[in-house]
Amino acid sequence: MTQKRPLVIGNWKMNLDYVEAVHLGQQLGVMLKNKPVEHTDIVVAPPFVDLRSVTSIIESERIPVEVAAQHVNANENGAHTGEISVSMLKRLNVKWILIGHSERRAMYAMSDELVAATLRSVTRAGVRAVVCVGEALQVREADEHEAYVSAQLASALEGLDEKSRELISVAYEPIWAIGTGLSASAEQVRAMMDHIRSVLAQLSLGDARVLYGGSVNAENAPSLMLEGAVDGFLVGGASLKAESFMGIVQSCDDCYDGKR
Ligand code: PGA
Repeated sequence: MTQKRPLVIGNWKMNLDYVEAVHLGQQLGVMLKNKPVEHTDIVVAPPFVDLRSVTSIIESERIPVEVAAQHVNANENGAHTGEISVSMLKRLNVKWILIGHSERRAMYAMSDELVAATLRSVTRAGVRAVVCVGEALQVREADEHEAYVSAQLASALEGLDEKSRELISVAYEPIWAIGTGLSASAEQVRAMMDHIRSVLAQLSLGDARVLYGGSVNAENAPSLMLEGAVDGFLVGGASLKAESFMGIVQSCDDCYDGKR
């Protein structure tokens, strides 16, 4: 049984146009009405262009789900063609922002410094941040994954003020497990959760929830939750269908409740 209230975030990545996004939001709403979730915080992260439609449907139908953005620019405004600022997201009632997803780091040159700057601008605005960390396969094979993840965390999180700390969650997503269908084992996840929690405690962030991401589905969620000792999940592929996403959410809720 996990100690902290579980958090499950669906990262829709570059999938679903606004019509499809509204449809999925409505499906989640119906499922949550039929089988309410008591203990788990649920968040979805649609593409930018879907945010307005998804926040509207969630508000008008009172769906107990919050909305995240998948990325944000670290600057407040100005000449940054094609970019989006935190204040714009806040106006849309976006409550969470993913920062430093491995796809942003690998494909869009997001450095540790930029992750740290983005985190500062998000927390300064009072928005919740999910800082994503995780190693590539070569790093794990060289047995350097713990040092690698500590360095990512230290670079992103050092020197945050008291108020910012409350806004932070961490997602551990080993790159080799993302979108591959091969989740990390519960033992590997457990070892990394212990490691990340000790690093966070040293940075005075012991209350932050630590999620796992990488090929999570409704089948592996219970063992990752119970044996892997995670505080929740960042879900990609399995969040694109209401049934599979809600299966994961329900597992978290049952594990927290001691029903599993
Ligand atoms: P996946 O993606 O669940 O499809 O592996 C997870 C993520 O990238 O957040």
